[in-house]
Amino acid sequence: MPLLTLPQHPVQEKGLPKGEVERALQEARQRDMSYASGRILSSMCTIPHEAAVKAFVDFLSTNLGDPGLFQGTKQLERQAIADIATLLGCGGAKGFIVSGGTEANITALWVARELAGVQKPEVVLPETAHFSFEKAARMLRLRLVYARTLDDSSVDVEDVRRKLTARTAAVVGVAGNTEYGGVDDIEALSEIAQEHGTYLHVDAAFGGFVLPFLRELGYRVRDFDFSVPGVCSITVDPHKMGLAPIPAGCILFRGEEMLEAVQVESPYLSMPVQCTLLGTRSGASAAAVFAVLKSLGREGYRRVVEECMRNTLMLRERLLSLGFRVREPWMNILVFEHPAFDVVAELRQRGWAVSRTRAGEARLVLMPHVRREHLEELLSLLEELTS
Ligand SMILES: Cc1ncc(COP(=O)(O)O)c(C=O)c1O
Repeated sequence: MPLLTLPQHPVQEKGLPKGEVERALQEARQRDMSYASGRILSSMCTIPHEAAVKAFVDFLSTNLGDPGLFQGTKQLERQAIADIATLLGCGGAKGFIVSGGTEANITALWVARELAGVQKPEVVLPETAHFSFEKAARMLRLRLVYARTLDDSSVDVEDVRRKLTARTAAVVGVAGNTEYGGVDDIEALSEIAQEHGTYLHVDAAFGGFVLPFLRELGYRVRDFDFSVPGVCSITVDPHKMGLAPIPAGCILFRGEEMLEAVQVESPYLSMPVQCTLLGTRSGASAAAVFAVLKSLGREGYRRVVEECMRNTLMLRERLLSLGFRVREPWMNILVFEHPAFDVVAELRQRGWAVSRTRAGEARLVLMPHVRREHLEELLSLLEELTS
């Protein structure tokens, strides 16, 4: 059976009537899951803010790979970077809006490797680090040296210390790890990195738009950003808790000179050099990030994070009362299991998208699209399964 009802020729001779193309698009879209259904509990992305969506569409054709042509869009990117840098403790940090956490992490390790200039470079990172580092390592020919993690999922800093060698080009810490939301002790990593004269990168792809607001809401939060002196670069993803449309990541460096390590000449474009991995790159993403930052402000983000956290803690209490084993959440990621049955299998069978940690537990990301009524529905199902 054909996937879609469109004719099967890859590119047909004549254009199809508009209605037919639209019908095929709608048909495809209906096969997607929707965030609004509340059934997506596994994703770190969500419904983007409407101001960001409008900006994205308005700036669709802009190219930040050629910023001399799109000086207004470049200005929006600069402003967005300055705002995120200020949020993360260093208004003067420099960087770019990129395609996501993967590109940001690759860029950071590229810079670190160039600056270190060692033979057979190594990167020491927690076992909980995202798989994007594995991609970076293969591309950049880095050897990854994993440090063990503690029961709370944060890295064992003494193990990091033990693993440093003359070949270490960078240490990576994570602020909001993908599976548990765990936050490494970045201050301790910073001391170790500074003693050793090593580059420290922090992957706050998820936590970067959560932790600053949790702190403002009165939660106890570890320092993880540029306020910690040894931190050289930070990944933070607007297309996760920043409520920007996909694709939107961000990489920030403490100093502009760090970027020079990966600079190449771009002779036939409007600017003489480029420091980004991509050449042609989306101005729409930068405009969208600017739009959502300015529309929400700190207060708006605080409200979003407050609601996500309230849902997380409510769910935790109710799961505990139903006999589930629930991990203490660091942020709006909840990990739990039941001694008697496979939670993930049961939920997936009934149409809920949930993910599994490497240890086999159920992992839910309580994003803004997950509302109280969805959680009540989920809880009634879990209650049935436990009775
Ligand atoms: C901590 C962390 N870093 C990096 C990434 C990669 O981000 P992306 O999928 O946007 O490339 C993720 C994705 O979930 C993540 O959780």
